[in-house]
Amino acid sequence: MCGIVGYIGKRQAFPIVLEGLKRLEYRGYDSAGIALYDGSDILLSKTKGKVSALEDKANNEMSLKGNLAIGHTRWATHGVPNDVNSHPHYSNSGDLVIIHNGIIENYASIKEELIKRGYTFQSDTDTEVLINLIEDVKKKEKVKLGKAVQIALNQVVGAYAIAVFDKNKPNEIVVAKLGSPLAIGVGEDEFFIASDASPFLEYTKKAIYLEDEEMAVVRLNKKIKIRKIKNDELAETYIQELKINLEQIVKGGYDHFMLKEIYEQPTAIKDTYRGRLLVKEGIIRMAGIDDHLEKFLNANRVIIVACGTSWHAGLVAEYIFENLARIPVEVEYASEFRYRNPVITSKDVVIAISQSGETADTLAAIKLAKQNGAFVFGVCNVVGSTIARETHAGAYTHAGPEIGVASTKAFTTQITVLTLIALKLAKESGAMSKSDFQYHLQELELIPGKVEKALESDKHILEVAKKYKDSKNCLYLGRGYNFPVALEGALKLKEISYIHAEGYPAAEMKHGPIALIDEQMPVFVIATKKGHYEKVVSNVQEIKARSGKIIGIVTQGDKDVKAIADHIIEVPETLECLTPLLTTIPLQLLSYHIAVLLNKNVDQPRNLAKSVTVE
Ligand code: F6R
Repeated sequence: MCGIVGYIGKRQAFPIVLEGLKRLEYRGYDSAGIALYDGSDILLSKTKGKVSALEDKANNEMSLKGNLAIGHTRWATHGVPNDVNSHPHYSNSGDLVIIHNGIIENYASIKEELIKRGYTFQSDTDTEVLINLIEDVKKKEKVKLGKAVQIALNQVVGAYAIAVFDKNKPNEIVVAKLGSPLAIGVGEDEFFIASDASPFLEYTKKAIYLEDEEMAVVRLNKKIKIRKIKNDELAETYIQELKINLEQIVKGGYDHFMLKEIYEQPTAIKDTYRGRLLVKEGIIRMAGIDDHLEKFLNANRVIIVACGTSWHAGLVAEYIFENLARIPVEVEYASEFRYRNPVITSKDVVIAISQSGETADTLAAIKLAKQNGAFVFGVCNVVGSTIARETHAGAYTHAGPEIGVASTKAFTTQITVLTLIALKLAKESGAMSKSDFQYHLQELELIPGKVEKALESDKHILEVAKKYKDSKNCLYLGRGYNFPVALEGALKLKEISYIHAEGYPAAEMKHGPIALIDEQMPVFVIATKKGHYEKVVSNVQEIKARSGKIIGIVTQGDKDVKAIADHIIEVPETLECLTPLLTTIPLQLLSYHIAVLLNKNVDQPRNLAKSVTVE
């Protein structure tokens, strides 16, 4: 999983590619590189570390003038992150150069063959093998670069989004895609290539998204033709008019993307239900559900597949679907589901949840479910992403681009979409009365305002964060709808502050974790008024009796938990099934502040990347 950028046209290519890489660092940031054609040769600069390190290095070691360049920001799969393994990679002759996002699974056997034929390799990467295979085919078959790429790709197994150019033909870049995303920005006498549209948004809003197994020769002064890699057939060239703005993907005055995205949640939730939640009319309108209502209503069960934070949203949905719509739900880690030979039938509806729409395990789970005849519905944030395309139907979350690696607004907008679906099914199946349905619609419409209210506790949360920032371990407890919120709270803390944290159903605590509790252990307890309140208060007493530090996430005006807890953080009152949309907010802010206080890289935590396109 990496970010790729390319440019060919009338402008200076280096700054465009460099800036583009900075915007794609959410895809990986352990090394970066750029190959630039300066009018006679390829100049290459690459380094371990972030794009800023590449900027310094390139400034020192090469001329930055030229109208053709490709660049890469890496998240290592084959070979440790170092200068040599960084992309771009040359072919042995030095004529060809490549950037690659993905994995070539059969690279070892190809490499062996190439070594026998006299090829040598500098790096440990699968990508260097691919560029030499392309060169070998080009020489052997005496074909142009485009054809050589096509023949070579028919010999590889794996996933790729690639861009390749030949210094002897500096008017074209060859691109191809299978499994990793690739967009082509179409300007006036210029083209952009990127993993998503963010690197070229200020230059053009016209974009072509390659489908899997498609390739194109992007040539100056030529219309783009897209071909099938397998059989050379022409495919449809569909140029989309993009509607997202650059402002949506820059920090907008916040110190970090994560904070910006936390604060965007009232708007993101509103955008997610806009046009769907029609309170006056008393209906929920969702084309993806309306068109396939019978599938849902006749389903034996719903299986939710997802990873990470999206899996937590799936767990919240399990409570909502079963409680409101009385539909049996199973929630599965996509990575487990795909390999455990699950029983899937044509009477199952599978809901795949993914912010990026590119998560490899979720995608594989979808493919498996489809092969077994299930109807697959996607809940994605990234429009046109692979999962959005691979599913039979779906609903977008409309959260806008999420750049911070730690997922925040994706989680609450996923819950919003899933709540809309559950309510719609509850009404259509008769599981919920008309008046109850109407009440739920009204309450859901009020959530953005209540999220705003919850955000007002930010300063108080910072003070709480200061008290617990040096903890070595933390426990998060919740029950019912808020048990998954406890898991999500713990995940947020772990991933950005590197403090060990665990989420537990509050009542399970006495079956083991209670042994961990002493005066060093902060315990974040979600104890909202509705939903097993008295039981949770008893759990809080048990922690207190063992000298644990208690931070209660409570409903405004709470008295019982306040009387026992060391700190409380209040959220507005709402329906029990909607509480996760509010209780999540303080936990996100808490993790954010702790990570900032500890001087951690909030938006790009170590070892992580925004979309996990490897299994
Ligand atoms: C956590 C986080 C990850 C993702 C997971 C799935 O903050 O961001 O756990 O939720 O990698 O990603 P998507 O939703 O893109 O499939």
